[in-house]
Amino acid sequence: MLKHIPPWIYKGYERLLTQEVKSARIPRHVAIIMDGNRRYARRLGQMAAFGHMKGANVTEKVIEWSCELGIEHLTIYAFSTENFSRSDEEKDRLFELIRLKFDEIGEDERTHERRMRVHAIGDTDKLPEMLRESIKNVELVTSGYDRFNLNVAIAYGGRQEIVQAVKEIAGMLQKGEIELSNINEDTISSHLYPAGGSALPDVDLIIRTGGDERVSNFLPWQANGNECASYFCAPFWPEFRKIDFLRSIRVYQTRVEEREQHATMRAAHFFKALGKAELTEIRHSTKIEGLHQ
Ligand code: FPP
Ligand code: MG
Repeated sequence: MLKHIPPWIYKGYERLLTQEVKSARIPRHVAIIMDGNRRYARRLGQMAAFGHMKGANVTEKVIEWSCELGIEHLTIYAFSTENFSRSDEEKDRLFELIRLKFDEIGEDERTHERRMRVHAIGDTDKLPEMLRESIKNVELVTSGYDRFNLNVAIAYGGRQEIVQAVKEIAGMLQKGEIELSNINEDTISSHLYPAGGSALPDVDLIIRTGGDERVSNFLPWQANGNECASYFCAPFWPEFRKIDFLRSIRVYQTRVEEREQHATMRAAHFFKALGKAELTEIRHSTKIEGLHQ
């Protein structure tokens, strides 16, 4: 319905939502499953590559919106391990598009103004040489930045990421570089992507476009182990608008507010539930402590 409303109403609504979103807590880490590029293309009688190209333009917009709002980490699912089963033609064109985007990002002055660091996360050894070169280059060019982090999941699978971490830790254990009793959650986190020990923070909000309500092996450790909000929406990725993005952040903020309200109510119920005996004891012990000061 909103598609047919006049642009001035859309702009006004977007401004209102932006104000609302900016007045509450901004998620630190947003992760996006950008789904629906081919269905979008098919609907317009076009090839898959057309949908991916339109989708990449939206990704650039989302980077801009994320920086504007002060999000610190944006992780996008560009190519999963399952996507290797697609036709050679589609894969070649998609890899070429992603390579082009990495090169553009490396050269774009906004990357430097934003102090944006780029990381590719995934089994990049499986990618064509040209794409690996572009990844190496954009990671190097942005390695000194830390204000905004763009993590591109490519040749990525969540379970495979965990298996790879376990293998690394087992290797260290075998060589006596680590003790079994010292292995904890931080040890696992630091062996996940990106390589080099700079673990991704927990995901606060996960977004999926294209109508499916699944998280498809995306960041299972970083998103499922904590209270991450999720936002599933119907538009195909190339149709994703700023108001959709802002709405997803409102969902995250509502979850945070609900959790805080719940914690306050629990505390209030706890004090209400305290009996006369406990209250006398508290009063008595504070008096005794007071005497000792
Ligand atoms: C999922 O839609 C989309 C992809 C597999 C590719 C996403 C990649 C980009 C948008 C490129 C962005 C990259 C950078 C670095 C800016 P789908 O192909 O599964 O479509 P369907 O669900 O309709 O079949
Ligand atoms: Mg899909």
